[in-house]
Order: sequence, then C-alpha cells, then structure tokens
Amino acid sequence: MRSILFVCLGNICRSPLADGITNKIAREKNLDLYIDSAGTSSFHKGEPPCENSQKVAKKYGINIYGLKSRPIVPKDLEEFEIVVAMDEQNKRDLLHYGFKKVYKLGDFGGLRGKDVPDPYYFIGFKGFEIVFDMIQKGVNALINDIQDGKNI
Ligand code: 4NP
Repeated sequence: MRSILFVCLGNICRSPLADGITNKIAREKNLDLYIDSAGTSSFHKGEPPCENSQKVAKKYGINIYGLKSRPIVPKDLEEFEIVVAMDEQNKRDLLHYGFKKVYKLGDFGGLRGKDVPDPYYFIGFKGFEIVFDMIQKGVNALINDIQDGKNI
C-alpha cells in the first residue's frame, strides 16, 4: 500500500484539506492508499481543522470535522513513503527534520511549483476557496501520477 503524509505548518488549514480530498478520491477510485496529515509545529496540537477549512470542505462534500492536528513525529520518517509539503518553508523544515525526500504539492499538475499559501491570516472565506482549488488540482495530479506508475 502506498502511504502519503501531507504537511503544513499548523495542520489545521491546508494539510487537513489535502488529507480529506485525497481520502475522498481514494474512496471513489477504490485506491489502496494510507493517508495522514501533520504540522511542522505543534501550535495547534489536538485541535480540529480551522472553521473555514471545515466550511469549504463541506461545501464540496468532504467531511474533515473528525481530524485532529498533530505535529510530525520521528515514526513518520519510517512510516510514510510519500511526503508532500504545502510550501517551501514546510519543505525546508521537513528536510531539516530528517525526511530524505519531500515534494511540494505544487510540484504536481499545472501548479508550476507554486506554494499553497498559508491561509491563516486570510480575511474571509475567499482565500479558502482558492486554497481548496489549488489543493484539489495538486492532489488529482499526484494521484494520476501514482496511478500511471510514475516514479514518485
Ligand atoms: P496551516 O495554517 O499551516 O495551513 O494549518 C496555519 C495555521 C496556524 C498557524 C499558521 C498557519 N499559526 O501560526 O498558528
């Protein structure tokens, strides 16, 4: 089974969305994937996803209420085969932590290496629609690459 860990800073806004979207696609396509998400910080440990992430996920038929923020832990180094950061800072932090290979979600599909921006200080809901759209595009491309047997 392939395993994917999505990582952002707080594990309350972006990576829970990536987790929820990927789970939904995996279920729909009947793919055998083990998916989780984590934060490079423990600022929000134990908290559910932020309200706007819950809201945008719900709008598109995805339930992420049950997820809880957790920081990356040493066990993740062995447990996850594919590690996907949301932005360049997350990627640097993950490499520094000891992960050998780290992708950015923006490496997949048409996102041209872009960062998925930190939505924490976004005012209002609009930013979360943009982030949701980017994450959905990246995740779809990642899953297609996995299904196509690309060397990920
Ligand atoms: P996330 O967003 O990394 O997408 O979960 C953030 C959540 C919290 C903070 C920063 C970003 N914070 O600084 O507490």
